[in-house]
Amino acid sequence: MTEKNINGIKILHSELLDSTNKAAMAGEYAHLTAIVADRQSGGRGRLGRSFFSPDGGLYESIVLSPERILCGTGFCTAAAALAVKLSLERFGVCGLSVKWVNDLLRDGKKVCGILTEARTEGGEIERIVVGIGINLRAPDGGFPEEIRDRAGAVDFEGDKLELAAEIARVLGEYISLSPEKIAELYSQNLALIGRDATVTDYADGQKKLCGTILGVDENCFLRLQLPTGEIRTVSSGEIV
Ligand code: BTN
Repeated sequence: MTEKNINGIKILHSELLDSTNKAAMAGEYAHLTAIVADRQSGGRGRLGRSFFSPDGGLYESIVLSPERILCGTGFCTAAAALAVKLSLERFGVCGLSVKWVNDLLRDGKKVCGILTEARTEGGEIERIVVGIGINLRAPDGGFPEEIRDRAGAVDFEGDKLELAAEIARVLGEYISLSPEKIAELYSQNLALIGRDATVTDYADGQKKLCGTILGVDENCFLRLQLPTGEIRTVSSGEIV
């Protein structure tokens, strides 16, 4: 592992880790330290899924101290999605939008996934780890069959560690905003508004809801209009 300081952000960089989130959860790191790997052998995704993590991606976990998260820990994933989008734009990547709740899309394909995990001690959140996986380039030989129709890449040509540092720096700024401001920015960057979609509601026994996506509310919860006209708010789920 090599250590670098880029614009005030400490980057711990390895060629290979099993999971940068696992490493960030296990060690003792200061606020905004970024653990970065060129590839992961056991990348973790949401809901216990694995995250395909070959060469050609940026796999980064940013450590956050809860007392520095002024918007509230529930807004970290939304803040991270905004931080990744803004940072990539600063490096010249355009055409990105946020797919609720934790993905970034480009040309309708997933180019980034975010997994936020919390470490607790005595029932208190003691650390938040925001894990970000970005497909900077399509892997040699292309994406595996099972994700080929959904996965894309941002075609990033710059310095990966500078991008990692910028994401951590911008995330540090976003988590200092109010929850209302994060929800407002998140709404402005949201994909699929007005589109009909199926949403899995994890807070309601994985129920599948079909409806039109209206946007998010002040908690960054998804608002969906059902064919009956009823408006549902989904706090935890996935747009299928
Ligand atoms: C998802 O799309 O389900 C979330 C994927 C999050 C992947 C990133 S890659 C860096 C960090 N380390 C991990 O093991 N997972 C996250």
